[in-house]
Amino acid sequence: MKIAVIQGPNLNMLGIREQHIYGPMTLEQLHTQLQASAKENNVELEFFQSNLEGELVDKIQECLGTVNGILINPAAYSHTSIAIKDALGAVNLPVVEVHISNIYKREEFRQKSITASASTGVITGFGPFGYHLGLLSLSQIISEVQANQEANKKANEKLEKEQKS
Ligand code: DQA
Repeated sequence: MKIAVIQGPNLNMLGIREQHIYGPMTLEQLHTQLQASAKENNVELEFFQSNLEGELVDKIQECLGTVNGILINPAAYSHTSIAIKDALGAVNLPVVEVHISNIYKREEFRQKSITASASTGVITGFGPFGYHLGLLSLSQIISEVQANQEANKKANEKLEKEQKS
């Protein structure tokens, strides 16, 4: 199973930016920890960070046919980007949106996520640990999707066999 971890604008500044909100961990440290827990669960990760909306859209589009799901923190674009929401809708993959801070406890403009409506679920307010929760939830969802696909395939094969005989 392969998952793309997509990080939006200013998350490359983790460990430096507003530590009272986002904590002291850098993005690199966060990715190293995430990689370790993914390895334990036989999940392959691919990391991507960009400060540019179009690059994030391109990356999401590239996910089609290359990964089984997307773990994304669209950061400030969560509150503004119809383009990112549409890209997530277009690839139609399981998506978990993560926010380090609790967006519902912050300024009013952060309390609405446009991209969340294209996500399977949202995890917000658990600090960097939210990415681990997100990874766990996403792998569970992907396993369920794969099991359903397998069951449908078997049922169709059985039906075809019965129709032939
Ligand atoms: C954030 C919350 C956003 O409102 C903000 O713009 C970010 C980070 C979070 O992880 O808490 O850059 O997505």
